[in-house]
Amino acid sequence: MTDLQLIKMAENAANNAYSPYSGFKVGAALLARDGRVFCGCNIENGSYSATICAERVAMTKAVSEGVREFESIAIVGGIDDFSKPCMPCGVCRQFISEFCGGDFRLIFKNNDAVLIKTLDELLPNRFEL
Ligand code: THU
Repeated sequence: MTDLQLIKMAENAANNAYSPYSGFKVGAALLARDGRVFCGCNIENGSYSATICAERVAMTKAVSEGVREFESIAIVGGIDDFSKPCMPCGVCRQFISEFCGGDFRLIFKNNDAVLIKTLDELLPNRFEL
């Protein structure tokens, strides 16, 4: 699975976004160590705070299937297109950190280029119980 293939899967997932309130679509494609990919989109709610982000949908799908070891995640988002990097919110960074080490790769689109960040870069000095 290449980074570009994972981005394509995230774009497909983003097209399933349920975001009537913000109009912002997000898609995530999470690559597990065993090669499986779990996709998610944001799902908004009329009570707003019950909204769930695409990244957490993808990760809850994987963990609920017994998968806890991951390589990388591709994330895309936007209103009209997915060309600019869509960085995960703080809650998603923390949620991802429960199952992933500092070298876990987060893959973004930046126009025609691919942007890679590690979890350590996006969540330095993270909380650990
Ligand atoms: N959203 C995500 O899906 N992931 C993030 O990391 C940040 C925000 C969604 C939530 C909401 O549906 C929309 O983007 C606008 O905030």
